[in-house]
Amino acid sequence: MYLRCISCGRIYSKDEVIYSCCCGGLLEVVIDIDKVEDVFDGRDITLWKYKSFIPVSKRISLGEGGTPIYKLYNRIYLKNEGANPTGSFKDRGMTVGVSKAIELGMKRVICASTGNTAASLAAYSARAGIKCYVLVPSGKIALGKLSQAIIHGANVVQIKGNFDEALDVVMKASRELEAYILNSINPFRLEGQKTTAYEIYDQLRFVPDAVIVPVGNGGNISAIWKGFKEMKEAGIINSLPRMIGIQAEGASPLVRMFKEGGEFRPFERPETVATAIRIGNPVNWMKAIRAVMESNGLLESVTDEEILAAQRELASKHGVFVEPASAAPLAGLKKLRERGAIKEDENVVLIATGHGLKDPDIVIQQLKPTILINASVDELKRVLRGFRNG
Ligand code: F0G
Repeated sequence: MYLRCISCGRIYSKDEVIYSCCCGGLLEVVIDIDKVEDVFDGRDITLWKYKSFIPVSKRISLGEGGTPIYKLYNRIYLKNEGANPTGSFKDRGMTVGVSKAIELGMKRVICASTGNTAASLAAYSARAGIKCYVLVPSGKIALGKLSQAIIHGANVVQIKGNFDEALDVVMKASRELEAYILNSINPFRLEGQKTTAYEIYDQLRFVPDAVIVPVGNGGNISAIWKGFKEMKEAGIINSLPRMIGIQAEGASPLVRMFKEGGEFRPFERPETVATAIRIGNPVNWMKAIRAVMESNGLLESVTDEEILAAQRELASKHGVFVEPASAAPLAGLKKLRERGAIKEDENVVLIATGHGLKDPDIVIQQLKPTILINASVDELKRVLRGFRNG
């Protein structure tokens, strides 16, 4: 097992504290595929079931993974990552990432975050008994996420700037602070997140035609793709899904690059109601583009209105409350089906990345508040007659 640069192929030891190659390229973990076990029997599904694919020896765990998969419509499935311990898919990354930090003997961990990474890292570092520093963009983080980071005892610092600026500070400060970076630039975090692919296959017992993922930094889409590729390399599956990334229109640098070609250019002022993916300069842009290209997939953007409509649909028609970013895949699916880019007979898995309770404000702002009446049956009957679903 070793680390390899995705740009120049240079190889590094797994024991180095290193996040990118000397050429500037992103690193990935190469596991020993000849040593993995075929555990894909549809039973006892939890992240650590796939331990032979996971490149760490320690285990800091809160019981992550094993999240439910629901059928929404004919051939359309939703993997509910909001069911993880801190309410988002980040827990898959953090159980492995924080375990790696412990393995390396690190006493401190650090991240920049739009909220979920912060909440998750705060919880796992509390469990591991190490110090946690979290930098968040001031005013642009959902309240649920902020409260999680605080209650778990992280040192939370708000930055006057956006996520991209906060991450820049983290990258520059980590060495001096002797803190291990647990943003998705860290290839070991993605080793946890790739288990989403293993679970999808283990639960469905087939490989879907497409997997649709909301994209911010681009770590998760590349991690899930890696998971599918490893299963194929290990001879467990013999087909691969198309990877489809959805960005919010106001924060869609990867969609722009995919559609217009040319060099990667960041969005200077990303803006969207889906604060989790309000990212203009995705650190993993190269891995994300590679996942899309290799899988013959695509990238598409959706508007804030489309995201919020999809969020309401998931909650009111299917009983699944997700945060805005996590509704982007359903909004994207509708758009892509309309233009024929996804066919009616394709099996599709949508990744719902985070729980709706992370960001209750967004719901309360949009939907009308509940009605206040006196404690009277007559008054109750009168108001119920006015309700659509009464
Ligand atoms: N969905 C949710 C709910 C997220 O919190 C994030 C990223 C993404 C999707 C995008 O994933 O970055 O791997 O492409 N949240 C990060 C954070 C940036 O700080 O919590 P990605």
